[in-house]
Amino acid sequence: MAERAALLVTRILRRAVRARARATLFLAGGTTPLPLYARLAEGRARGGVSWRAVEVLWTDERCGPPEAPASNFRAAREALLDKLPVAPRAVHRIPGELGPERGADAYGQTLREVLGSRGRPDLVLLGLGADGHSASLFPRQEWDGDGWVVSGEAPLAPRPRISIALPLLVRARTVLLLASGPEKAEAVARLASREVPASQLRPGRLVWLLDVAAARGLALS
Ligand code: 6PG
Repeated sequence: MAERAALLVTRILRRAVRARARATLFLAGGTTPLPLYARLAEGRARGGVSWRAVEVLWTDERCGPPEAPASNFRAAREALLDKLPVAPRAVHRIPGELGPERGADAYGQTLREVLGSRGRPDLVLLGLGADGHSASLFPRQEWDGDGWVVSGEAPLAPRPRISIALPLLVRARTVLLLASGPEKAEAVARLASREVPASQLRPGRLVWLLDVAAARGLALS
């Protein structure tokens, strides 16, 4: 799955840079994307992307220091960014150390500056929690925020989180949702409902990459 995802990410970023001289990439947190990040960092998938033209952002962050073990920024920096020629000024981490409210305000300002007022990310990577959450948008919680960012207490530790909001997510040109393992099958089944954030995305803009175990959920839906 990681190899196929890396080739898809490479193709999407190359197309964006060709069309608009830059690409905006939102990295997902959690563990599922880590093999993808490793493939992207290796030579064979990295070859086609002009990484100096890529603006790197995050879908969400757990509030705390950027080098905390739970930090999505730290995980992506170690697995991917430290190994690629991304321009330091083009790395826009979520300032979780400011706490949910101030961090969300600061990140919202960054998003408007990087994406412009109409904000259309080129590629957003999403994971899928066993409960159906993606980014830090959880079922039966606030998904819209101010239209760009939402923050609050997640039902799962670590609780204080900052996340991109659903209205920004649905404007993305492509969303690549990654899910693997039998523990995600039930959440995959819920993608057909309206209960989970990823189900709000228009067909054609949402690409599911599932391994066989997670895809068993499709038979449940
Ligand atoms: C986070 C992620 C979150 C993650 C899912 C799946 O900050 O935790 O953004 O949405 O993608 O919880 O996590 P795993 O990939 O580790 O199963």
